[in-house]
Parts: sequence; C-alpha cells; structure tokens
Amino acid sequence: MKKHILVIPGDGIGPEVTAWGKAVLEQIASQYGHEFTYDEALMGHAGIEATGNPLPDETLEKAKASDAILFGAIGHIKYDNDPSAKVRPEQGLLKIRKELGLYANLRPIMLFDELLDASSLKPAVLRGTDILFFRELTGDVYFGEKSRSEDRNTASDLMIYHRYEVERIAHKAYQAAQARSKRLCSVDKANVLESSRLWREVVQEIAKQYPDVETEHMFIDNAAMQLVKNPKKFDVVLTANLFGDILTDEASQIAGSMGMLASASVGDGTGFFEPIHGSAHDIAGQDKANPLASILSVALMLEISFGLKDEAKRITTAIDHVLKAGYRTGDIADTLTQPDKILGTKAMGEMVLQFLSKPA
Ligand code: IPM
Ligand code: MN
Repeated sequence: MKKHILVIPGDGIGPEVTAWGKAVLEQIASQYGHEFTYDEALMGHAGIEATGNPLPDETLEKAKASDAILFGAIGHIKYDNDPSAKVRPEQGLLKIRKELGLYANLRPIMLFDELLDASSLKPAVLRGTDILFFRELTGDVYFGEKSRSEDRNTASDLMIYHRYEVERIAHKAYQAAQARSKRLCSVDKANVLESSRLWREVVQEIAKQYPDVETEHMFIDNAAMQLVKNPKKFDVVLTANLFGDILTDEASQIAGSMGMLASASVGDGTGFFEPIHGSAHDIAGQDKANPLASILSVALMLEISFGLKDEAKRITTAIDHVLKAGYRTGDIADTLTQPDKILGTKAMGEMVLQFLSKPA
C-alpha cells in the first residue's frame, strides 16, 4: 500500500514522541511491504515562532494533500498564564480540526492488564474496562462566538449546536456501537442547557435507526462520577466537545496515564491522529515522555485511515509484550517495577521496535 503521511510534531514533548510514532510506521512499512512517504510541518508555538501563525498556510496545504496526519502535542507555558495573548498555539489545532472537517474524535480507553496497578483506581474496579469515546470536535462552546465587554468585566462563550452536527457524530457512534457490544451512552446536561436538549432530542431520533443498540442518556456530572465508580458500565460514550475533553482526561486514569491514550479525529477528509496528552513542557527534551500514546495513535491511523487491521494489531501486541516484560516509562511505573526497567523515551521506543520485529 502507498500512502503519504504528514507529521506535525508540534510543541513540548511533541517532537520526541512523534519521532517514535514515525519510527514504528517505518518499521511496519518495511515488515509488511508498504510504501509510506512523509512530509513534516509546523503548528502551535512552533508555527508562531517561525511564521507568526499557529497554523501556517503551508501546513494546511500539506495536511489537505496527505492521506493521514500524525500530530504530537500543542501549547506553551508562556501563553498559559497570559490570558491577554491574542495569538495562541491552541488556535492552530482548533483551526486544523475545523478546516479538515474532523468532527468526530475517537478516544479508546484501552486497558493493558499489566497496567492495572499503575492506576490510582482499584484493579478490581478497572479490570475488563473497554470504552470508546466519541467526542464531537468542531462545534460547541469551543467554536461559538466569544465576546468581552468594552469595560473588560464581562465575558462569554456561546455554547451552540446545530442539528446536523449532532446527527453526523451520532451516526458514527451508533455504527461503532453496532460493531461492539451494542451499548451507547450519550452524555449531556439536558436538565440545564438548551444545546443539550437539542443534543438529546437528536440522539433519541437517531437511536430509532439503530434498534439493536441499547441507548442510555446520562448527565455529565453523573457520568463523571460513574466513570470512576464503575467504568465497566460504559462501552460507547457519545458526547459534546467540552464534556468529551474533560471526561477523557478523567478516563485516562483508568488506562494508568495520559501517556497511554491515543486518539483519532475523523470526518470529511484526511484523518488526524494524536495522543490525548499535552505538550508537557516540564519534561520536554529530557527523554522522559512516554512515546506509547504516539505509537498507539499510529496503530489507530493504520486501522482507521488505511484499513490495515493486522498491522495495527501487531503494534498493540508488541506494546503488550513490552509491558509484560516489565518495561515502563516513569509515568506508568509502580512500586512493582524494577528500577532498571524504567525507561526513557528513546529506550522505550527502541524496545517497541525490537518487539515489533519479533515473530508475532
Ligand atoms: C485535547 C486538548 C485540546 C482541546 C486543546 C489543546 C485545545 O486538550 O485535544 O484534548 O481542548 O481539545
Ligand atoms: Mn484535552
């Protein structure tokens, strides 16, 4: 198979972890006889530094011309404490999501048994959890009109949804539920928010087209609680942009660490694959970041954008074997980890490549 992949390393630990995602792609290509070509582009703080623009035009052009995009992370500490900054790294990510029509963000909460002890939750609560979040990605309060009064003392962000936006992601989530355990939980705040009442109304209508799927509606506050109380009760979770952002950070603790979660953003065109973690400037450039989320993002790319299921499975199996052999990065190490098996970014990346090349 021939494919052209755009790599956008981004900020902070982005370049370090993305290098290993790419290395895994290269190894898969050589093991399975695929021809992957690559290009690289800037976004976020890296884009601002080079061009003044968090999403340089060239990056968008390259993105549109590629078959899939591997992205690292975005953000820079200097903007976090400067609310007055007009140009911000995150604008690059939001704009590319919008421009590429990436309205569905899939975030699988995949639990490797070996990491049950890495979570702050009890293994008995976690064991058997397998959740697939569908987070709406191009609407909601993220993209609604923003305003600030002239005296600067009042601010607002419009939380807005259109029927078609709810419909198209609901279809995707229901189709996934049909292929999984046929359970879907839609999360909203319909007891308070009008946009959530529209959300619930539309999901109820779409549900009729999928009679084999059992639908549950849950309020966001309750869902946040149930997720740590009994995560196994969830299978496919469908929710809005902001609620999904928050719930999936919470859910990352089920998988042991933010450093383990990958995501796929899909919609009208090119698919976009990225870890859910941020730029983590506190550990950037120190060979401490966990590259597994980037590597798992590559597995999602192979499966979702290219339909290469065996290749994707090969990657998750290799990671499973690395973890079974006792190797960990700092974020997923626990008291049972042997100190000499706590690896840096590079050593963990190399370990995955080594296990990938072993006969499956
Ligand atoms: C994410 C991130 C982004 C978001 C930020 C960086 C804009 O937190 O992908 O979850 O809020 O969507
Ligand atoms: Mn987030």
